Amino acid sequence: MSGKVVVVGSSNTDMIIQLDRIPRPGETVLGGEFSIAAGGKGANQAVAAARSGGDVTFVARVGDDMFGRQAKEGFESDGIDIRYVLEDPTAPSGVALIFVDRDGENSIAVASGANANLTPEDVRAAGDAILAADVLVTQLETPIETVRAAVELAAESGVTVILNPAPAQRLGEDILQHVSILTPNETEAALLTGIEVSSEADVEAAAEKLSGMGVGTVVITLGARGAFVFDSNQREMVAGFAVEAVDTTAAGDVFNGTLAVGLANGSEILEAVRFANAAAALSVTKLGAQPSAPTQAEIVESLRRAS
Ligand code: RIB
Repeated sequence: MSGKVVVVGSSNTDMIIQLDRIPRPGETVLGGEFSIAAGGKGANQAVAAARSGGDVTFVARVGDDMFGRQAKEGFESDGIDIRYVLEDPTAPSGVALIFVDRDGENSIAVASGANANLTPEDVRAAGDAILAADVLVTQLETPIETVRAAVELAAESGVTVILNPAPAQRLGEDILQHVSILTPNETEAALLTGIEVSSEADVEAAAEKLSGMGVGTVVITLGARGAFVFDSNQREMVAGFAVEAVDTTAAGDVFNGTLAVGLANGSEILEAVRFANAAAALSVTKLGAQPSAPTQAEIVESLRRAS
């Protein structure tokens, strides 16, 4: 294991308003504070992986515009290989409008822009990097045929495939059969299985059903409670870390990026999930998606303090 991670996915610029509460339809709420931060689920996962110690290649499309160039500069400053981050001449960079309330909960609207143009050919063009990777990570903010191409190519070559099924969308066994580790939250697990996920028994039932759909290991993320790991060898709850939440945006992305690094560095799944839980908890203590992704040293220190 060499710590090599390839992330295939989205890149956005996040326009954030922090305010007391999220407006209802038709309502105007004053008193917010505005900020701009780098985001996008794929880019957040790539940055989280790089900061937590991974050797990361990102496969994505941004627009040929200021946001796209700023995003690429950010990836480079985190040491990410951006050879396969393409500048699309036909579409603007992706943008997300995010409300964050006083409890750190959010509401997000995304204009996908260039992310919607990431193609299976773009993925295949990055084949050398994917075949050399220990772990491939992807999510659902790019076209589904692109996700399918990425998971197929990686799985055929024996690369561990993490699919974070976010934003929630139904998936067929044509994709799930290639997934080594599926990482839904409760909402995503409910949509994928048709099981309302609230009790611990529901979590286990949903994980069992997903496992029966062809996934290797199911890791259902449960926010501050931690994550439930299910496969043919184990059914384990890995406890989360209690923190004061400022902004929960990208906690799931940080979890996935750092989980990939744990596995790419040779950790067993339970140990990698604990590493990812610690990173996700650190991320919710700061505002913004990529600004909140912790470094390897911060994660290690948090784990040391908790032990
Ligand atoms: O998961 C959080 C991310 O979702 C934000 O950074 C936003 O860009 C959307 O993609």
